[in-house]
Amino acid sequence: GHGQRVTELLTADAGGLARAADLLRLGRLVAFPTETVYGLGADATNPRAVAGIYAAKQRPSFNPLISHLPDIAAAEREGVFDEDAMRLARAFWPGPLTLVVPRAETSHICDLATAGLDSVALRVPGLPLARDLLSLVGRPVAAPSANRSGRVSPTRSDHVLADLIDRIDAVIDGGGTNVGLESTIVSCLNGEMRLLRPGGVPREAIEEVLGRTLLDGPASKDEEAPRAPGMLESHYAPRALVRLAADDVRPGEGALLFGSGRPRGIEGARAVRNLSESGDLVEAAANLFAYLRAIDDAGVEAIAVTPIPAHGLGEAINDRLRRAAAPR
Ligand code: TXA
Ligand code: MG
Repeated sequence: GHGQRVTELLTADAGGLARAADLLRLGRLVAFPTETVYGLGADATNPRAVAGIYAAKQRPSFNPLISHLPDIAAAEREGVFDEDAMRLARAFWPGPLTLVVPRAETSHICDLATAGLDSVALRVPGLPLARDLLSLVGRPVAAPSANRSGRVSPTRSDHVLADLIDRIDAVIDGGGTNVGLESTIVSCLNGEMRLLRPGGVPREAIEEVLGRTLLDGPASKDEEAPRAPGMLESHYAPRALVRLAADDVRPGEGALLFGSGRPRGIEGARAVRNLSESGDLVEAAANLFAYLRAIDDAGVEAIAVTPIPAHGLGEAINDRLRRAAAPR
């Protein structure tokens, strides 16, 4: 380990990015914004650096991580893209999509980052600042969400600090993320296209580009074995209990609303946030994690969540809320 460290706050300018890239190349841990959530970055080719991610997050086990690249050309050095995979890369990169593809012979991503699998999860993030950083680093950067294991994903630098201050070397303060949900993960192995995790790109948009429907979940139990925390039942867990599809708010509860409806008992709520008054799922996704944190920080015992439609980004929003509500 690195012993006592003090987290550097870096600004989102050329100086801050150069410092962040130097730290990453030295094997240090740097949290940085993407358009989805803040990532906790480490040089994906350096097993000691990747081990530091698990230590800082206090992750109970080694799970495969997503490696981030500045462009498609860099991604092609790490993974093998068949025709469908390349079609998705061209349509959605840069953006909130992760592709799981066979590992390329030219890849230097370490086994710890892939959990020993012969596939790699790759993503070219949409936020220009993140791509600028990745270009400067010149190596794939492994980055799970920059939160302590089991906590809600961070969408602002102060969320990162709340969980990881003095456990990581630096954080780039790049303001709020605009998608607010992790990337959609599609596996492209053996000619099958499978949705492993709903996220920032809606299923419908991917199916339209492919011209066919996505299969659901991993191909076999084997593939499921190295289950990552993002796929564990209870992962996105606020301290408070979460009560889904609520049509009322009970005394002392917090309330997370969607749309213009007002549930019974809302007057008695201790803390209230509305994901989107106008019923816009994109706005709701962007607000989800910050609002869960805000209501949780009010110290309520439970959070009542009103129903959210299942289509478009609603699939990923409901997925994260189900995990937040799962028994722990
Ligand atoms: O939006 C995002 O994707 C964020 C930001 C920071 O980019 N990153 C993120 O990374 O969520 P991470 O490392 O937490 O995502 C891990 C997910 C898991 O669900 C894991 O199963 C999947 O990536 N994954 C990684 N490698 C895989 C592989 N070879 N096969 C199947 N799934 C894989
Ligand atoms: Mg996470």
